[in-house]
Amino acid sequence: MTRNNVSAEWWKQAVVYQVYPRSFYDANGDGLGDIKGVTAHMDYLHALGINAIWLSPFYPSPLADGGYDVADYRNVDPRLGTLEDFDEMAAAAHAVGIKVIVDIVPNHTSTEHPWFKEALAAGPGSPERDRYVFRPGRGEHGELPPNGWKSTFGGPAWEPVGDGEWYLHLFAVEQADLNWKNADVHEDFKQTLRFWSDRGADGFRIDVAHALAKDLESRPLADWPDDPDQGEPGDENPLWDRPEVHEIYREWRQVFNEYEPARFAVAEAWVVPEHQWMYASPDELGQVFNFQLSNAGWFADEFRLAIEKGLAAAEQSGSTTTWVLSNHDMPRHPTRYGLPQVRSAVHHQLVTDWLLRDGKTYYEDRDLGTRRARAALLMELGLPGSVYLYQGEELGLFEVADIPWGALEDPEAAMTSHGDAIKGRDGCRVPLPWRAMDESGDFGFSAPVDHAPAHLPQPEWFAQYAVDVEETERDSMLKFYRRALAARTELLTATGDTSLTWAAGYDDQVIAYERPIADGRVLTSVTNFGAAPVALPAGEVLLASAPLADGGLPADATAWVAR
Ligand code: NOJ
Repeated sequence: MTRNNVSAEWWKQAVVYQVYPRSFYDANGDGLGDIKGVTAHMDYLHALGINAIWLSPFYPSPLADGGYDVADYRNVDPRLGTLEDFDEMAAAAHAVGIKVIVDIVPNHTSTEHPWFKEALAAGPGSPERDRYVFRPGRGEHGELPPNGWKSTFGGPAWEPVGDGEWYLHLFAVEQADLNWKNADVHEDFKQTLRFWSDRGADGFRIDVAHALAKDLESRPLADWPDDPDQGEPGDENPLWDRPEVHEIYREWRQVFNEYEPARFAVAEAWVVPEHQWMYASPDELGQVFNFQLSNAGWFADEFRLAIEKGLAAAEQSGSTTTWVLSNHDMPRHPTRYGLPQVRSAVHHQLVTDWLLRDGKTYYEDRDLGTRRARAALLMELGLPGSVYLYQGEELGLFEVADIPWGALEDPEAAMTSHGDAIKGRDGCRVPLPWRAMDESGDFGFSAPVDHAPAHLPQPEWFAQYAVDVEETERDSMLKFYRRALAARTELLTATGDTSLTWAAGYDDQVIAYERPIADGRVLTSVTNFGAAPVALPAGEVLLASAPLADGGLPADATAWVAR
């Protein structure tokens, strides 16, 4: 157990590994990953050197949005296991010093949630409907939606229920938005936070944390613009990042503080960087995802700005920041770095188009993507704050771009289907390859020999990235992750010192920063975004993401030097 993990503020400098449970490991052979599958790999996770796991939703759910459509917040989906399985998993994690973070989805419930069914049955004006956002439709018989708001996944954000009223769903039609002005909603989520805290959850990840407070009263609904921009915060935005949302998190902080050590949460809030810190402040959640790194293209100035903004937000909040390269909502970063690089503002569109055409429109340079992913990891791990890893990145997996349309599960893809479409997020959610030579055809994803097919098809090239293959290669991505994580823990986390200084004397194609390390020396992390090799400072090279050339650090590489 690291010293870091026994302190009450362990989460401030943690390395958190995101488990997407349905795609991690299938212990019972139904083709869906499960909780027992996580328990079965606790040794693997421990050997990786992480401090915590965050589990994406594993609750009972119709899986209209990969489990982010929750039908029962205080239970385990029977396909993924039982509450006893959760207890065993948490105990196994704690036994090896790994903390457990669970996902809370407070903006919406599944339309299969008992509350939603009660709301439909009870009719307009009832207290049951007041837990959600129901409004009368426009037109003579309420046949038109209350206004033109769009769902994040495409199509209208309102759905009629047949009695003149419509309900709001900012995401899929199966995800009905809750009304956070309703007292039942507040009480129920506090109960959920206590339920999982009592069962051993050490922290929470809060889904779309910036959407809970909504203004549907201050002006007629039809007067709002059709597409309130998530990036435009404040009173003028009826849906996203409204000031009142922070009252909810101050209330939750009281619940977190009932525990010893106090629980924390990390907000998923796609807000302007200048607003991030509020969610993270000590009287609210504690931490917020900083997605700046994952937004950056492979350009030194974009990475530098991302780091500067993250550090500034941390300082403002009085907490620490977070660093993210990948998660279950974005194309995997070795693919992003291996595709042609254009500025971040348009890179997203380039990757989306490439996916839409099954990965055929641009050449994906996998060697280059891998080199850059290694460099990015080392740069990221040297930064103060917490690092959130996404399952499979330790294997260097790429995005699976050619999943057949008929096999896609993501509502983002289903909502739009073909033509004007986007292909959605399934390409990073394909079940993990554990064994290259697996006769039953799923790279060892399912434990039983007789099993249902993996819920998303795995490509043949997964064989090269299977865990058992990487275990045997001296310099595989997996081995590199283990080495780099061990070095971070030993050298950086152990100091508790979060200071960072930009190193002088490098050109603008280089990102170089200095950090004090545990043995009293100073670590310089140098990343070369340019084409020509860069001279490293004198000292001991502790770790390098690529072999050093005579002239120094080659292109697309990071080295850590101590002196
Ligand atoms: C963010 C989650 O990460 C994403 O997967 C989900 O689709 C939306 N929130 C809606 O819950």
